[in-house]
Amino acid sequence: MRNVKAHYSQDPGREWRRLNHDAFQKLEFRTTMRYLDAYLPKRGLVLDAGGGPGRYTIELARKGYDVVLLDLVRENLRFAERMIQRKRVGDRVKAIRQGDITDLDGIADGTFDAVACLGGPLSHVMKETKRRDAIAELRRVAKHGAPIFVSVMSKLSSVLNVGLMPGPQPEITRRYFGEFLRTGDYFGQSEFTSFHGFMRQELVDLLTEQGLDVLKVVALEGCGGYSIPGLNRLERRLPRQWKEWQRIHFETCELPQFVDLSDHMLAVCRK
Ligand SMILES: C[S@@+](CC[C@H](N)C(=O)[O-])C[C@H]1O[C@@H](n2cnc3c(N)ncnc32)[C@H](O)[C@@H]1O
Repeated sequence: MRNVKAHYSQDPGREWRRLNHDAFQKLEFRTTMRYLDAYLPKRGLVLDAGGGPGRYTIELARKGYDVVLLDLVRENLRFAERMIQRKRVGDRVKAIRQGDITDLDGIADGTFDAVACLGGPLSHVMKETKRRDAIAELRRVAKHGAPIFVSVMSKLSSVLNVGLMPGPQPEITRRYFGEFLRTGDYFGQSEFTSFHGFMRQELVDLLTEQGLDVLKVVALEGCGGYSIPGLNRLERRLPRQWKEWQRIHFETCELPQFVDLSDHMLAVCRK
């Protein structure tokens, strides 16, 4: 088992490519950006917490926001620094700092006009009490009334998608797999690193208990994860159908049933 820090230190370029790799992964980015665009204030200072190699930092900076990028892993931040230079948005990126979302010590209360924690940093916090700390910290550093965006990995998609991958999938017969279905906790026994997979209601409860108003919960890929080759075929060969599929996805991505089945779910909250 590789711990989270070691996993993400390995290849920041892979993480950078993640949201642009194929139709399926672009869907996570596009759906997230739709909700950021809808709920962000017109301007202001945004915290990109667990921002990794900086894809959202750069996109937000391009849109005219001032951004602070924070991540656990130094290698990611070094990579982000280079990309920020390359994309010429350095004047908008006010700080790049190493830190842990469970303890944002050194950042004053009410600093940010918006806070984003996207692509699953919260899922990598394995203890429930620490996940509560993380939400309390993200809330603390936001201004009163600020939007807070949190996206996590889902439990059901992780279980169901593994079974559908090509070739034999012995994992699904292993004991830890049954445990994961019960607890949502995976400790990196086979591939990837440890993470907690959420159910929609669990995420809503966690955010609400920490005093946030949950405005929306969104299925970032909807049912797209169940036919990635199908999505890629649409994108590559059938642009009109691809556009229409995405339109239907955007129309249905708040359905609670889809949220629980999607690979990632996004909660849009307000402090
Ligand atoms: C899947 S990546 C997502 C990166 C980026 N937000 C995106 O969507 O492209 C998860 C990131 O969370 C970071 N991370 C994991 N645990 C963290 C923690 N406790 N505090 C801050 N960052 C963390 C990892 O280093 C990694 O960069």
